[in-house]
Amino acid sequence: MYFYGTFPEDFLWGVSSSAYQIEGGWDADGKGPSIWDNFTHIPGNIKNNDTGDVACDSYNKVDEDLYLLRALKVNSYRFSLSWPRIFPNGRNSSINSYGVDYYNRLIDGLLTRNITPMVTLHHWDLPQALQDIGGWANPTMVDLFDSFADFCFQTFGDRVKFWMTFNEAVYISWLGYDTGEFPPNIKDNPGIAVYNVTHIILKAHARVYHTYDQKYREHQKGVISLTINVDWVEPKNPSDPRDIEAADRFLQFMGGWFTHPVFKNGDYPDAMKWKVGNRSELQKLPSSRLPVFTEEEKDYIRGTADVFCLNYYTAKIIQHKTTRLKPYSYENDQEQVSEFDSSWPPSALETVRAVPWGLRRLLNWIKEEYGNPPIYITENGVGIKSKSDVDDTSRIYYLKTHINEALKASRLDGVNLRGYTIWSLMDNFEWLRGYEPRFGLHHVDFENPNRPRTPKRSAIYYSEIIRQNGVPLPEEEDH
Ligand code: BGC
Repeated sequence: MYFYGTFPEDFLWGVSSSAYQIEGGWDADGKGPSIWDNFTHIPGNIKNNDTGDVACDSYNKVDEDLYLLRALKVNSYRFSLSWPRIFPNGRNSSINSYGVDYYNRLIDGLLTRNITPMVTLHHWDLPQALQDIGGWANPTMVDLFDSFADFCFQTFGDRVKFWMTFNEAVYISWLGYDTGEFPPNIKDNPGIAVYNVTHIILKAHARVYHTYDQKYREHQKGVISLTINVDWVEPKNPSDPRDIEAADRFLQFMGGWFTHPVFKNGDYPDAMKWKVGNRSELQKLPSSRLPVFTEEEKDYIRGTADVFCLNYYTAKIIQHKTTRLKPYSYENDQEQVSEFDSSWPPSALETVRAVPWGLRRLLNWIKEEYGNPPIYITENGVGIKSKSDVDDTSRIYYLKTHINEALKASRLDGVNLRGYTIWSLMDNFEWLRGYEPRFGLHHVDFENPNRPRTPKRSAIYYSEIIRQNGVPLPEEEDH
């Protein structure tokens, strides 16, 4: 059923992007290489051997991007900072003022247009220099990330009031250090490295939160969180308790792994502790492969997010399955199988199902699980495999139905939803899939050196939703 109504008054309407996916200028003005620069430069790694070397050339197109945002009439823009553009070798001993200027111009331009910047500190493009010392597997990263974040708060925090530490850290740990599909492509210690990496990432997140809290919050008065990505899941057989449990386990492994410690008790979800612990015991290991936080660490991690940031794309059907004990892996530990998209990136885009009602259920799950936190949808959108989809009716349908389910969650279910953000402002570099899937509200011509942007029909549709702050019942029907 379609539901008419509007969102709360101060609702944030936005679009999203990330540094590596749009900026280009990969070695411009002293920028250091990131792990994604190096990975994409090796032929065979990315679909069609695409790279982010130029991407949408946003590094040279601040004015164009601001123009698009202004025309959409969004009141927020979520983007990420390229760590190696600011600290070319990852450390604050080398500050690249050109990089800082770029973000200053962008942020100032947003504020002049009354657009709230929502800034992600790390959206996967780690400086190669820090990978050289082990990347997120090295506990020193807690200090190094803190020093980068501290610099960003100090430099941009007078104007940026909405911070996210990590975007979808699950893919850093899982794809970067377990399956090895993503850089740094580590696959020699599956089922072990993945948990150690998240352990460090969570400490790094908490550390940065406390830095903000202690040094900046009083004057800057912003909020800080982390962004998770969770698919909604339904048990294959809703009357089989094992499938219901497997579905819950999925949500805990994909999202709760990060948000249970942060929003609840400083510790991993019971479902994970139990499953990884039990399997480790059966594997005759001396202790669980899931590391343990000390009481002090739990206290430090608990409560380190002011708002809940969620990326939502799809839903799946989940079934319990007892998996082999060896080889160890994050996926095997979950003891489940899913129908539709079971891997990332999905081999065929078509397997990513549009399941709008999954968003409403997921929002309600978050509300129940974490005690009704303020929620921002920081990504939602659809990728279409077509070079010229300016006439993108299917995207309009995707957005219309998802926004409507978000509206129901807000108005009918009492979910404390504060914002909605579309992935993406424009077509961009889609990681392993290169430029093939197009997620943009704006079409980008990647064959033209000027990278011209053209609004799709969905951009016009979205600006109308924003203008009306939702979908009010047309007046003639309102009786
Ligand atoms: C990521 C984006 C990506 C999008 C679509 C999300 O998981 O945060 O960087 O472009 O999915 O593939």
